[in-house]
Amino acid sequence: VARSLIRGTGSALPARVFTNDDFAGIVETSDEWIRQRTGIVSRRIAGKGETTVSLAVEAAEKALAAAGVSAEEIDLIVLATATPNNTFPASAVQVQERLGIRHGFAFDMQAVCSGFVYALTTADLYLRGGMARRALVIGAETFSRILDWEDRTTCVLFGDGAGAVVLEAGEGEGTSSDRGILVSRLRSDGSHEKKLFVDGGPSSTGTVGKLRMEGREVFKHAVAMITDVIEDSFSALGIGPSDISWFVPHQANRRIIDASAKKLGIAPEKVVVTVDVHGNTSAASIPLALDTAVRDGRVKKGDLVLLEAMGGGFTWGSVVIRW
Ligand code: ACO
Repeated sequence: VARSLIRGTGSALPARVFTNDDFAGIVETSDEWIRQRTGIVSRRIAGKGETTVSLAVEAAEKALAAAGVSAEEIDLIVLATATPNNTFPASAVQVQERLGIRHGFAFDMQAVCSGFVYALTTADLYLRGGMARRALVIGAETFSRILDWEDRTTCVLFGDGAGAVVLEAGEGEGTSSDRGILVSRLRSDGSHEKKLFVDGGPSSTGTVGKLRMEGREVFKHAVAMITDVIEDSFSALGIGPSDISWFVPHQANRRIIDASAKKLGIAPEKVVVTVDVHGNTSAASIPLALDTAVRDGRVKKGDLVLLEAMGGGFTWGSVVIRW
């Protein structure tokens, strides 16, 4: 089987660093509370002119440069976001236009924090199905624009940013069959809707709405859901936690990350953590963390990389990649 290969990664962050102390005068909280409960120290917050699309374009350009691939060689863009620039057209099509691409096709994918795992899996299937040859898979979000800045239980948790990868169809037997995306698992369960949702939308209220979350309830389910799909992936591949080179989880909360790694039996030094400086950037968090670990030299050719996410819906899933 010719597997899809990640050829390059890129990421982009808004200019403004927003520290825990910057919440002083906005909500009643403290640096100590936020650090202890979440591991977050700072996050980036988009300013005027910085949008999901602008961040996505910057991340995509960096991923293209890293891959040595030109924009014209891209024939598919899958952009995971819950915070598109407009209700329509899709932000992916706006990114396609800004990259000067006039062929192929582009669409958005909505699975909130699991968006990147869904998008990567979807692009992989298009490539393996022969409908496209090279894809940009992007996770980009500006959650700061759907936060209730008067609700301290949510506004301290999230940040803005984007990450992207260039995914290429494998050539076939012998060339790439041992590398690339090995297995994906996706799940959703709408019975948990009210634990994490946005209280508006085009067809329900005609407004954009704000993020609402029962944090403790989300926490309660997160670890079990995450470890379930990963253990399923492990048994599909006949591998165990010690085979994993790098665990790149969705960056929602340090305690969820640590508890998941511990339950799975993955050593702490193999866990890529960026939640301290990015906060929870929803669909952007995995490609942001992945790009960090690729650029600092941790993730190398031949490594076995495990991605995992869980978010609103609930949605959750995992992807295992031979780098
Ligand atoms: N600053 C200070 N105090 C706060 C803050 C804050 N920012 N937020 C809440 N508190 C208070 C609460 O009001 C509560 O006070 P009370 O006891 O007087 O009522 C107290 O702190 C404890 O609140 P809890 O909600 O019980 O705190 P908990 O230990 O559960 O931590 C947290 C809250 C961090 C949100 C935790 O539940 C969590 O991490 N949940 C998972 C949420 C998450 O990561 N969601 C995203 C995953 S899915 C996705 O990525 C979309």
